[in-house]
Amino acid sequence: LLSVRFHQFGEPTDVLRVEEVEAPRPGRGEALLRLTARPINPSDLLTIRRRYGSLPSLPATPGWEGAGVVEAVGAGVKGLCEGQRVIPMGASGTWQQYLAVDAESLLSVPDEVDDLSACQALLNPLAAWAMLHDELTVKKEEWLIQNAAASALGRVVIQLARRAGARTINVVRKREQLDELLSIGADAVICTADETIVDRVKEIVPDGARYALDAVGGQQGWELVRSLRPGGTALLHGSLSHPETMPLNNGLVLTRSLTLRGFWLTEWRNRAPISRQKSALEEILALMARGALALPPVQTFPMAEVVAAVAASDRGEGKVVLVG
Ligand SMILES: NC(=O)c1ccc[n+]([C@@H]2O[C@H](COP(=O)([O-])OP(=O)(O)OC[C@H]3O[C@@H](n4cnc5c(N)ncnc54)[C@H](OP(=O)(O)O)[C@@H]3O)[C@@H](O)[C@H]2O)c1
Repeated sequence: LLSVRFHQFGEPTDVLRVEEVEAPRPGRGEALLRLTARPINPSDLLTIRRRYGSLPSLPATPGWEGAGVVEAVGAGVKGLCEGQRVIPMGASGTWQQYLAVDAESLLSVPDEVDDLSACQALLNPLAAWAMLHDELTVKKEEWLIQNAAASALGRVVIQLARRAGARTINVVRKREQLDELLSIGADAVICTADETIVDRVKEIVPDGARYALDAVGGQQGWELVRSLRPGGTALLHGSLSHPETMPLNNGLVLTRSLTLRGFWLTEWRNRAPISRQKSALEEILALMARGALALPPVQTFPMAEVVAAVAASDRGEGKVVLVG
């Protein structure tokens, strides 16, 4: 059975290996999953590069989300049957074919949601949901600006914000993403190849946006902060421009009474009641089943080609999913 592993931290294309391992046995209260799909997320690559907020002991298998079927259940497990399609909440090491997980952490996947979408239902949609509905409680007619807007997370933000009646301004680097984002409900899209963020925001919403979600940091993150109206709040949730840092101007932050706050899903999940997390995920899966929440199209690679898959993800070729 195949497992992607790394024995030292470093560049993913240098340190990732595909190894043969034994299938684990499900212990008491556990289920054995046969995983069929798992996405490559920025947090996976940050972990392998030793730049993430929590690091595994080595050797380790990457991956915090995936989709699969229940292959067997351990003693004391009720309400799960073999062959049931599920996603695990809170599993680690999903870049392998078999994984034993706490049976209580499994959520059923509706028939209408395929594995390539289901495997992405946890991290990005839940982070988007938590930021919009828990951290910010975004309301009707409020304006929110975000960058990396064509990312999996950015697309979910657009669709959930629209459902809440809020308006979004979306920053991207590539012109070809403009129409696509408008078609899923973006109110405005700013392409940094052609426009200046602050100037364009002034035209769209002269007082500035109420909220900002910054996945990038650096100069671009600062332009999002400068686009906030007085009393506005920015959630800093990614650092895609690393090692560039944000040129923070104290004067502007204090005179506008802005709030800049970090958001990390791991930390949110440690404090949010498990029932709230489960109901949010069930809502996300139900929206996906009704075709009311679209995740990005994906490119797939067999697990044995993980190095090529990671290289494609690093080249910015869109969301990559490891299958098989
Ligand atoms: N804090 C949390 O708990 C949490 C949870 C989930 C996700 N996130 C963050 O959300 C962001 C998106 O994640 P994802 O999995 O949805 O991403 P994804 O689908 O893999 O897409 C990556 C996106 O990042 C953009 N990007 C990469 N480098 C960039 C740069 N230097 N400047 C501007 N844009 C850049 C890409 O734009 P192009 O299309 O132009 O290449 C692409 O849209 C990441 O920062 C991730 O860490 C945070």
